[in-house]
Order: sequence, then C-alpha cells, then structure tokens
Amino acid sequence: MKIIFHLFVHFSLLMFVSCYGDNGYDPLENVLKIQRSRRKTQNHASKEDVTAEYSYSPVYVGPQDGLKDADKITELPGQPAGVEFDQYSGYVTVDPNHGRALFYYLAQSPVNSSTNPLVLWLNGGPGCSSFGNGAMMELGPFRVNADNTTLSQNKYAWNKVANVLFLESPAGVGFSYSNTSSDYQTGDIQTAKDSYTFLVNWLERFPDYKTRDFYLAGESYAGHYVPQLAQLILQNNKITNQTVINLKGIAIGNAYIDDETANTGMFDYFWSHALISDEIHEGIVSNCNFTEVGTITAACDDYQSQATTARSNIYIYDIYAPLCSPSSNSTPSISEFDPCTQNYIYTYLNTPAVQQSLHAKPVQWESCNTLIGLYWKDMPFTVLPVIQDLMASDIRVWIYSGDTDGRVPVTSSRYSINKLQTSVKTPWYPWMYEGEVGGCVVGYQNLTFVTIRGAGHFVPSYQPARGLAFFSSFLEGKLP
Ligand SMILES: *[C@@H]1O[C@H](CO)[C@@H](O)[C@H](O)[C@H]1NC(C)=O
Ligand SMILES: *[C@@H]1O[C@H](CO)[C@@H](O)[C@H](O)[C@H]1NC(C)=O
Ligand SMILES: *[C@@H]1O[C@H](CO)[C@@H](O)[C@H](O)[C@H]1NC(C)=O
Ligand SMILES: *[C@@H]1O[C@H](CO)[C@@H](O)[C@H](O)[C@H]1NC(C)=O
Ligand SMILES: *[C@@H]1O[C@H](CO)[C@@H](O)[C@H](O)[C@H]1NC(C)=O
Ligand SMILES: *[C@@H]1O[C@H](CO)[C@@H](O)[C@H](O)[C@H]1NC(C)=O
Repeated sequence: MKIIFHLFVHFSLLMFVSCYGDNGYDPLENVLKIQRSRRKTQNHASKEDVTAEYSYSPVYVGPQDGLKDADKITELPGQPAGVEFDQYSGYVTVDPNHGRALFYYLAQSPVNSSTNPLVLWLNGGPGCSSFGNGAMMELGPFRVNADNTTLSQNKYAWNKVANVLFLESPAGVGFSYSNTSSDYQTGDIQTAKDSYTFLVNWLERFPDYKTRDFYLAGESYAGHYVPQLAQLILQNNKITNQTVINLKGIAIGNAYIDDETANTGMFDYFWSHALISDEIHEGIVSNCNFTEVGTITAACDDYQSQATTARSNIYIYDIYAPLCSPSSNSTPSISEFDPCTQNYIYTYLNTPAVQQSLHAKPVQWESCNTLIGLYWKDMPFTVLPVIQDLMASDIRVWIYSGDTDGRVPVTSSRYSINKLQTSVKTPWYPWMYEGEVGGCVVGYQNLTFVTIRGAGHFVPSYQPARGLAFFSSFLEGKLP
C-alpha cells in the first residue's frame, strides 16, 4: 500500500517538473525514497556481486554499413561559426525484436581526433538525459543561449582532449526509446547490458575507435552505471569472440555508490554547511540507522522531513547558486553558470528543426524521465564491491567531487572511500590551477580522489576550467 501511495504521490508531483532541481524536483531523491520503502517491506537480501546476474552470450550486432555517414551532423541550428570538429548523432538498435534503440551524440576533438581517447559519458537520474544535461549543460561543446535558439561554444568542453560520446541510457531516457513499452520497467542490470550491446554495435559503425583507449565517465546515479558497465566490459573481454573493448579507466563524479554513506554524508554536509539546525542533525544521528539491515523508524522519517523542509529553498545541486527566476539577469557566459540554462535547453531540444538535425525521432524531449525512476527494478544497496573489483583489475579508478553539491556531497564520497579501506599513497594536497586552489587530491592504492573547489553536482557547469583541468589529468593518469 505504502509503495503504491509513494508512487502515486511522486507521479503526480513529477508530471509538472522535469528539470534537475527546478522547484525542488530531485530525481535521485525520488527514486531512492521508493527503493528504500521497498527495502523496508521486502526484507531485501544484499546482492553483493552484480556480475552473478550476467552470463555471457554473444550480443546482437546489426548491420552498420553507411550509418556513420548518415549520422554525421551537418550543422546544429543556431550553431556559431568556426566549429572545427565533427559531430555525429543517431540511434543504435540494441534489441531488434523489441524495437529498442539508444541515442548517442559524438563530439570529436578539433585537434588530434584520430589519436585522442574515446570517452563515454553517462548522466544519472536514473532517467536523466546525457545529451541534454551532460552535453548541452555541462561538458559538451555548446551551450544554449537565453534566446533558446542559438548556441555558444564552450571553450572548456571536454572534447578538447577526448572524443566524447554521450549516451542516452537506458531506453526511455532523452531520445532513446523502445517500441515495447514494458522495456521502460528497467534497472541496473538491463542498463549495463544495453550499454554494452550499444558499444559493440557502435564500434562496428565507427571502426576507427575499435582499438582506441577507452574511458567511462559519469556523475550522480552513473555511480552505479559506470562501475557496473566497466565490470561487464572487463568480464566479457575475457570470454567474448566479439569486439574486445579497450577500457583503460573510469571516473565518477558526485557519485551515488553506497546508500549508507549517501545518507550519513548528506546530513552531515547539510549540518556542516549550515543548512539544518543542530537539533535536526542530532535527531537524525540518534534516530536513523542507514545501514542495509537498519530499520527506518518514524522518528527518523520525521527528522529527515524536517531536514528537507529546512533546505527546501536552496538549490541542492549547488548550494550557493542563485535560483532560476523570471527576474534573474541572464548572463550569457560560460564561466558564470546561468541557473535558467535548463529552460533554454528544453525549448531548444524540442524544436523540430533541432531534432531533425540530430537525426532524432520527433518526440517531446525531457531532461529526466520520471517514470523510468519510479519503476526501477533493481538497484544494489552499494556498488563498493564492484569498485573494489575494478581497483584490482589494473584500470584507472578516479572518484571526483564538486564540493558545493548537497545532493551527493563530498562527505559521502569520503565516507565511501573510507569503507574501501585502501591505503594512502600520495597524501592529501591542494591542487593548483592558474594560481588558485582548484581542489584537493588524495592518491590511494589503485584509486584517486579529486575534489573540484566551488563546483556543484554538475562540475563542468559550475567550474568549467577546473573541471577540464581535472579531466585532462585523469586522461593523462597524473595527479593534478
Ligand atoms: C520502432 O517502430 C517504428 C514504427 O514501426 C519503426 O520505424 C522503428 O524502426 C522501430 N524501432 C526499432 C529500433 O526497431
Ligand atoms: C596533438 O598531439 C601532439 C602530438 O602528441 C601534441 O604535441 C599536441 O599538443 C596535441 N595538440 C592538442 C591541441 O592536443
Ligand atoms: C561466438 O561464440 C558463440 C557461442 O558462444 C557461437 O555461437 C558463435 O558462432 C561464435 N561466433 C564466431 C564469429 O565465432
Ligand atoms: C543498525 O542496525 C543494525 C541491525 O539492527 C545493528 O546491527 C547496527 O548496530 C545498527 N547500527 C547503528 C549505527 O546503530
Ligand atoms: C525560452 O524558453 C522558456 C521555456 O523553457 C521560456 O520560458 C522563455 O520565455 C523562452 N525565451 C525566449 C526568449 O523565447
Ligand atoms: C591494487 O591492484 C593490485 C593488482 O593490480 C591488487 O593486487 C591489489 O589488491 C589492489 N589493491 C587494492 C586496495 O585494491
């Protein structure tokens, strides 16, 4: 009953707003509430090893001939002059029987494209669009201007140093879709499998990238997607007779990776950043047991609601940022993030000419698909065991964190790393960028932790220059 009630409340709430943080809309929080209440009622057993669910059989590979040329973007409407890189976008079918296809956007590097690595970028949610959020608001080559129709170049775009592939995942998110509506009831395991099938097919379409160094990066709920996909790739690489994917490393930012530390770190952050009172914090500390076997009591629920109310007029994804309001002056500048950007993106991406130029199906594009999150089927309590596996597998594992995010704050990342119990190799130090502290860094055994100072949840939106400096270091495999 309780679950149905929750579903109903969230459903009705979410029909109106679908941008991260707008009017308090918080996709991750909504999904976690549902998952936690399910755990309460289901006596959910811990599933430590998600690979147990995967068994290898060759994945579907469709014909890709001619599709690369067809996917080339001539020009995006309103694009500025002097664009010196190639862009591609289109669909890759991952299940021909169900008619399920994932949409991607590739921004190649302007210089050294043929030698720069390939990076797959994933946004979280679950349910949020990697193209609309990741590419158009964060690290992609363009930002939509306040006129909703023209674009500016982002001089700190990550395609300066890598060929960046944005994937709308799973089906139902952004421009990705399925002709079988039951596919929209999905979860972590199906998402990883589809992303893997996508990659195998995409590499057939773009064979130049088959042996290129490959990295996975993402933020927020991609703290699940990225490690899980990395684990699946490494596992399949050992047994596949299809393409071996040359995975070299992963980076996850403000990543939701462990439900306990997500909670404890968040409330400690709210308190230490003066967003909630001593009483509420104390109430949470003494009444809430956030471990997997802990029970969430009514008293705990009550204190959590008080915390939500206390911080409700704060933009939780970047706690010192202004809100988008009709009276706010638009500042069309890359280094000063415009809090109304999501509205411009929404209008731009729902323009028929824009959808056509992208080779997208004509649809009502949404920043986040709320229903996907509501029906999410499987979500392990923690992915720390997956991260531990990756750390022992010789790929680069970086955890980064914008330190003004209240949603998956830097405290949660630090508590999660403590749980990994890895030893320090290079002790904490502040890293410098253009004469200022860019953040801090700790080098652990097989793991690097980097903060980006003054950045919220969407690191490259708020601190584009520091974000690019961090990302370049990650690709070079050198501490910043
Ligand atoms: C979904 O159905 C439409 C209409 O029949 C079809 O054109 C399209 O190719 C299908 N998508 C996939 C991925 O099979
Ligand atoms: C391109 O590659 C060359 C050779 O590795 C390097 O010297 C140069 O700095 C690179 N240019 C850019 C813009 O990355
Ligand atoms: C790959 O292996 C599968 C069985 O695992 C087999 O059915 C398939 O024919 C093999 N493909 C090739 C190209 O060898
Ligand atoms: C949380 O609850 C579990 C199960 O009742 C218990 O073993 C554990 O000690 C509790 N943890 C805290 C911090 O109270
Ligand atoms: C841009 O789109 C938003 C809706 O997302 C709308 O409120 C705003 O008025 C539009 N701006 C212009 C200049 O048309
Ligand atoms: C680090 O990786 C090596 C193998 O490369 C492994 O033997 C070791 O256990 C790993 N340590 C940690 C803490 O992950």
